[in-house]
Parts: sequence; C-alpha cells; structure tokens
Amino acid sequence: MEFNTLFTGKNYIELQSVDSTNNYAAKLLNETKVTNGTVILAHFQQNGRGQMGNEWHSVAGENIMTSVIYNFRDIQPEKMFRISKLTAVAVYETLTQLKIDRVKIKWPNDIYVGDKKISGLLIENKWSGTNCTSIIGIGLNVNQLVFGEHLNATSIVVETGIQHSLLHVLNILLGKLEKYNILYSQNKFQEINTTYLSNLLYLNESRSFLTETSEVFEGKITDVHDNGHLVIIDSNGVERRYYFKEVFVL
Ligand code: BTN
Repeated sequence: MEFNTLFTGKNYIELQSVDSTNNYAAKLLNETKVTNGTVILAHFQQNGRGQMGNEWHSVAGENIMTSVIYNFRDIQPEKMFRISKLTAVAVYETLTQLKIDRVKIKWPNDIYVGDKKISGLLIENKWSGTNCTSIIGIGLNVNQLVFGEHLNATSIVVETGIQHSLLHVLNILLGKLEKYNILYSQNKFQEINTTYLSNLLYLNESRSFLTETSEVFEGKITDVHDNGHLVIIDSNGVERRYYFKEVFVL
C-alpha cells in the first residue's frame, strides 16, 4: 500500500486479526529493529485495549484499528503528553477534512463529535534516556452504523452519511500524523499546542467536576500541561491540577 507520506507507513503491516495492534507493535520492537513510521493495521482485534485497562471493541472490518511506531528524540519523560497532543490534533484534523463538524478533543485521550466518542488513543512509550519509542494506538470508528446505547459512540458514516474505504481514511490520518511529527521535530510544538487547546472540549466553559475522592466542584478548564495535567480554575479562583483518573467532568 502506498500512502501519501514521506516515511509513515512505508513499512506497512496489515493483519486480518490480531490480539491488539499495540501488543503486536511491542513484540516487533522487542524482536527486531523497527523502522520509524511503521504502521500496523488490523481488521479485527481479539483483545483490543483501551485506556485505564478497559477493552476496545470494534466490529470486524468496519473501523480503523492501527498502531504507528514513531521514534522521538530529545523528549523529556515529563513532557510525554506532547505525543498525545500531537496525535489528538492529527485525528481532529482528519475528521474535519472529512467534513465532520463539532469535532472536539476530550482530555485525556478521546476525540468526540458533539457528545459522542468517535476515536480513542492508547499511547505506550519506551524510553531510553530522552529518546522515546512510541506506540501510537488509534481506534477510529469509520463505517460502523450501530452502537450499543450505553456506548455513546459515533462514526464517520453516522456523522456524514458517507462510507469510506478504511485505507482512504488511514491515508489521511497518516498524512496528518506525519505532518505533526515533522512540525514537532522542527521544534514547532507551540503551533500544535495552540491547535490542541483551541479544539479542546469544555475549554473555558463553566462545568461541574468530580474528583476521585468524590469532591464535586465548579470550575473552568484553562490548560493542559505537557506532562498531562488538566488545569482547572475553580469557582474560588484556585488553580487545580489533575492527572488521568483523578478528575471527571460531570
Ligand atoms: C480508549 O478509548 O480507551 C483507547 C482505545 C484505543 C484503541 C486502539 S485500537 C488500535 C490500538 N490497539 C489496541 O489494542 N488499542 C488501540
């Protein structure tokens, strides 16, 4: 498969079925030297993994389940959320290019259309000093029409009425990932961060939040730090910072 990219997907592995593309990528990295920009796509995952130990279920053949392996040089572990920001912005732009309105990035690792989830990211990193090998796992709903009620999910076809070949969407996605990977390596991260924040769900909106210690408070999201902290100014004007799982928007 030829993608419109310089290096992403030049090494392309397409699998009918696998436990998880992220697991496959991790095994590959353990066994051999892997080219920067290697892409694994599966049509079905027996054990798709989501955030926080959740499962990721996807109907066979209808959606994108992919892992992209990128090497990042000179990135401090405390700035590793930059990789997530870069990926979220790439998925965001893929969806807007496909003419979907109301796309938002939901901290920490989801992409939403309105109040429904269309994509989830699972990024797993291996560090050697400040060099990071990143397995960027992306689940993106493309042609699935029906979702369980409780899932609160949507897809490209539900939003646009148009079915797309998975490879067409993957080609756009890989182009965007590579674009932001290159911007990143040119030290233009601030550009990526600005796009990330301007499309972040609930930014600067008054919302209720629930903490893991069951505290409910009012506040506004004002920033996301490169270490992954969500920054909220509460109604008393106090700045609070939370990691994943420590706070939820009600
Ligand atoms: C989430 O929303 O919790 C993250 C979901 C990530 C799913 C993708 S599908 C491709 C890759 N392989 C996996 O096992 N998970 C990610």
